[in-house]
Amino acid sequence: MISKKMIEALNEQINKEMYSAYLYMAMSAHSTSTGLPGFANWFMVQYKEEMDHAMRIYNYINDHGEKVSLKAIEQPPSTFKDPMDMFQKTLKHEQFITKSINELINLAIKEKDHATQIALQWFVTEQIEEEGNDNDIIAKLELAGGKGNGLFMVDKDLATRIYTPPTAGG
Ligand code: FEO
Repeated sequence: MISKKMIEALNEQINKEMYSAYLYMAMSAHSTSTGLPGFANWFMVQYKEEMDHAMRIYNYINDHGEKVSLKAIEQPPSTFKDPMDMFQKTLKHEQFITKSINELINLAIKEKDHATQIALQWFVTEQIEEEGNDNDIIAKLELAGGKGNGLFMVDKDLATRIYTPPTAGG
């Protein structure tokens, strides 16, 4: 049994994950329009992962016989200064998501909701990975100087990222 308050908070998290997907889709579109196909690929993979995160919570709510309620998704920015700007905004956004996951867990603990606590552990691990990836790419961009040949090399590197669909139960 999940409380109404917990379901509402999980519904809010679906919206945050959908906005994340939308934000990274906007970054992918911006990368394509500025001639950076590797960055466009990286953000498109991230978009797909965010949709999976939203679906993970969607399925969790459904599996408990509760009703998902969808909210409006905020419009993301459509232009960005440069690749560093996109990754700094990505890191900042992921820190916000990490905080949101932590708050959900705090609520689950308060409500003695063990099932939701366990379900949210996956997101704790995922957020460590996401923030780590963003920090790595920011460091690479700093090394590359953010333009010319250095930027070309980072773009080539980001072109190799491959989307892996979630496995059942994983
Ligand atoms: Fe689903 Fe990037 O947090």
